[in-house]
Amino acid sequence: MKEKVEQYLQEIKSFAANTQDEIENFRLKYLSKKGIVQVMFAEMRNVAPEARKEMGQLLNSLKNEAQNKFDELKEAASGTGTEAGKKVDLTLPTDFANLGSRHPLSIVRNEIASIFSRIGFKVNEGPEIEDDWHNFTALNFAAEHPARDMQDTFFIEKNPDILLRTHTSSVQVRVMQKEKPPIRAIFPGRVFRNEAISARAHCIFHQVEGLYIDENVSFADLKQTLYYFATEFFGADTQIRLRPSYFPFTEPSAEMDVSCFICGGEGCKICKNTGWVEILGCGMVDPNVLEFCGIDPVKYTGFAFGMGIERIAMLKYQINDIRLFFENDVRFLKQFESTL
Ligand code: DAH
Repeated sequence: MKEKVEQYLQEIKSFAANTQDEIENFRLKYLSKKGIVQVMFAEMRNVAPEARKEMGQLLNSLKNEAQNKFDELKEAASGTGTEAGKKVDLTLPTDFANLGSRHPLSIVRNEIASIFSRIGFKVNEGPEIEDDWHNFTALNFAAEHPARDMQDTFFIEKNPDILLRTHTSSVQVRVMQKEKPPIRAIFPGRVFRNEAISARAHCIFHQVEGLYIDENVSFADLKQTLYYFATEFFGADTQIRLRPSYFPFTEPSAEMDVSCFICGGEGCKICKNTGWVEILGCGMVDPNVLEFCGIDPVKYTGFAFGMGIERIAMLKYQINDIRLFFENDVRFLKQFESTL
């Protein structure tokens, strides 16, 4: 019996398996209920009492060897997936998973949201598919107003009342209809215009809209809010300048430039040698718009502003082609790092 057990021990030690079936057969042969280990233990009955101790130890080592071999084979098989029997060194470093990075437009949007949230602005979103009323009429674009031609719109052919929003200003309308002043929020989102795609323009891009409605909101509040934003985003030395402009939904309206953060106002390629770069449109919400949205224009005033996220990201990172944002080329995308 002793020789038999020793022979089994040898067999177990030199056993190798290449497939799951071979491992299972090993288990059946040695470790199952009717397997060799159990059979040998049963035979202890026939061993002379003085030899039992030695035999017991031998059988225990047979059992342990078989169990260890089986565990080893199983672990190796699960480690490699296919090549059973191949030992895997679990202490080796793994291939690191490629985690990707945040998109530059998300980084800029998050930064803008974070700056405004510090002065009490909430973040809201609205639908990308809009109706004519929210995108144009309620924003004081008269039916035949030439301002409607300012934006080439994607209309739904079957129902020209439905369109892809051309700006996030439509969210102003939805929020004013739903909420009572004071309203202080920004609305980031995707907008659509029927434009030829080039290095400077795309038919899909992103904007952040801002709105503040309360009693006694003045142009000075608008200016100070935007000055705060400009210095937080572009740096403490940034200057701003407001130029008179026109939008149907604000009166008065302005466009805001920031002093060129590349050359500090000296003149360079980014600011086309003017020392200033335009970053947004803004103004005092037109009383007609307040009225359309159910807010009393005698009691309340407010300001609004809107900026293009691509434009700001292009300035910030000095990107010269807007199409890069939408091509999903990882060589481009992985250059941007952020904690936001
Ligand atoms: N909606 C304008 C556009 O897409 C941007 C804009 C200008 C938004 C002035 C505003 C604003 O809220 O007051 O060009």
